[in-house]
Amino acid sequence: MSAVAVKMDTMRTVPLGTTGLEVPNVVLGVMRIGESTDDEVRTLVRTARDAGIDFFDHADVYGPEVHGCEERFAEALQLSSSERAEITLQTKAGIVREGPYFDFSYEHIIESVEGSLRALRTDYIDILLLHRPDALVEPEEVARAFDELEEAGKVRAFGVSNHTPRQIDLLRTAVRQPIVANQLQLSITHAPTIAHGVASNMVGLEQSVTLDGGGIVDYCRINDITVQAWSPFQAGFFNGVFLDSPDYPELNAVIDRLAKVYDVPPIAIATAWITRHPAGMQVVLGTTTPDRVTGAAQGSDIPLTRAEWYELFRAAGHRVP
Ligand SMILES: NC(=O)c1ccc[n+]([C@@H]2O[C@H](COP(=O)([O-])OP(=O)(O)OC[C@H]3O[C@@H](n4cnc5c(N)ncnc54)[C@H](OP(=O)(O)O)[C@@H]3O)[C@@H](O)[C@H]2O)c1
Repeated sequence: MSAVAVKMDTMRTVPLGTTGLEVPNVVLGVMRIGESTDDEVRTLVRTARDAGIDFFDHADVYGPEVHGCEERFAEALQLSSSERAEITLQTKAGIVREGPYFDFSYEHIIESVEGSLRALRTDYIDILLLHRPDALVEPEEVARAFDELEEAGKVRAFGVSNHTPRQIDLLRTAVRQPIVANQLQLSITHAPTIAHGVASNMVGLEQSVTLDGGGIVDYCRINDITVQAWSPFQAGFFNGVFLDSPDYPELNAVIDRLAKVYDVPPIAIATAWITRHPAGMQVVLGTTTPDRVTGAAQGSDIPLTRAEWYELFRAAGHRVP
């Protein structure tokens, strides 16, 4: 049982890979701002900044058109160069929407980054992630693109998303720069990367099957790669949030009870389930509702006990054998 009610008003930071940078452990993803007005974008970003979030997650493919959300963000904010320097801009390359297919070729990576620089109206991207593994990847081509982008000062750090341990090892055969982050889908209800380890060595239990090549979260901890959790409140793959969902009565009962214990909104408990993990993960919020950003930010540093963390995990339907 939690001994004390703790109310956090500061954002906890975590190391970003081996960069030496300390970054907030709750960040704002802007995949869904494509149709937002200038005022809505400004209010959302101002609310995030007030909560200690100065890290924004983009991708070339977000928005009604390619580079659409990057453009919406930059156009609405009209950042001066000193304001630009105050924030961390992360974006992604590697998905071709028409198809769809994945493309980690030298030409595609360079073209995508040039497009992101233009859309974001900036000279540099802080972190570039390879968005989804390309089955036809040539590590030497990725290395050539990364070297050129780094030497030109256009990208400062590099990472991946949705990658398995072996896929990262393969990139590392040629890529010189450290892989600083791996962005993975992770919420209490969608947690295969964590749940399989809890059920390891069990026979006939679907949860014990590793779909990711095995132990990606442990691999990231061992190799100083920051895990970034995307869709932190979605029940599954873009099928609606579990918060207040009638499909998850037991989970919401536990979330609501813990929200009272810690004197925070329920969304903060769902956030804390991720920030409490000792890997030092970042939670990538996708909401466009300012109040939800403020509420989620309160989950940055809630010291859930082991009993509470596992209770949430079990209430979401996972087995603890
Ligand atoms: N690397 C990848 O492959 C990948 C894939 C997908 C996303 N991402 C990144 O992850 C970010 C987050 O993804 P996501 O938007 O799917 O995550 P999310 O934060 O779990 O979901 C946010 C969505 O749920 C809605 N929502 C409804 N009720 C809510 C509630 N009670 N609390 C919070 N949200 C509620 C929000 O609506 P309102 O906006 O109306 O609040 C919004 O549409 C994206 O912006 C993107 O940066 C990465």
